[in-house]
Amino acid sequence: MMDGGTRIQDRNDALVADALAGLTARQKTLSPKWLYDHRGSALFEEITRLPEYYPTRTEAGILRDNADALAATVPTGGALLELGSGASVKTRTLLDAGGHIGTYAPIDISRDFLFETAEDLRHRYPTLDIVPVVADFTAPVALTAALTAVPKVAFFPGSTIGNLEPSRAQALLSAVRDWSDIRAFVLGADMIKETTTLVAAYDDAQGVTAEFIGNILIRLNREADADFDPSTFDYRATWNAALARIDMHLVSKRDQHVTLANEVISFADGEAIHVSAARKYDPQMLAALARSSGWDVNRQYVDDQAYFSVAVLTPMKQWS
Ligand code: TRP
Repeated sequence: MMDGGTRIQDRNDALVADALAGLTARQKTLSPKWLYDHRGSALFEEITRLPEYYPTRTEAGILRDNADALAATVPTGGALLELGSGASVKTRTLLDAGGHIGTYAPIDISRDFLFETAEDLRHRYPTLDIVPVVADFTAPVALTAALTAVPKVAFFPGSTIGNLEPSRAQALLSAVRDWSDIRAFVLGADMIKETTTLVAAYDDAQGVTAEFIGNILIRLNREADADFDPSTFDYRATWNAALARIDMHLVSKRDQHVTLANEVISFADGEAIHVSAARKYDPQMLAALARSSGWDVNRQYVDDQAYFSVAVLTPMKQWS
């Protein structure tokens, strides 16, 4: 068992440093990338199947309806690289339509989960070269020589772009723009819509999202020498219209002190930790983001309700 509470886990120094910086700031924050430990990755897969969570099935529908055209963005023998691949479920639609694709490189921060997924994919696609890359895609990703050499397409579905600060999103798009022989960036982004629909997607009736977010405290206890009592925090999701984003918070239910790696962190009753944001877009915002990082919107696919968009970005010629 890789992830049970009984396993003595190494202290995760990067997590400790990041959590201390975030939790000692005036507005307490935790980075959403720490949500995806093995249990978090599994809970996230559960979220993708919730009735309220429309993004996954809507995006999957767009991918299915346009699978041939999207797969064709990858040249024969080229590589498809996915940023934050998780269980790679949606990607199978593109791989099924892309018999000509030579390599699939899932890139994910959750190591064990990534390797399990890669193993599963090797059975499903015996002739495809599967090259898992353990990396935090919010920092520049070092590609292998083989990946550097082939023509490639980046795939970033799930509106994960919206979980990044705008400056980070732009930095990521620019970094990928600089990959050698990059042909396209296939970007899935959730669109602005009615508030109740948006909020329900991040605050489901079964409480799976609350559990997913609360799991970060359990992880801090295990990997950052913390002593959070998760039952003393409530989950809250709100729509921030000014910034066009859902904000996800853990709210302390009382005044309390928590220890993390020997530092004492105080919480007032009602004080919130900002754990994640999910930005939503309109077509103009997406085009502006793309252009600011060296990409043109070559085309954009949306569903009937215009809930979700899958854009094909191509390198802007005059970018250097
Ligand atoms: N990329 C997903 C999204 O923004 C991730 C996500 C879904 C998420 N539910 C979440 C992130 C809850 C944090 C908390 O929709």
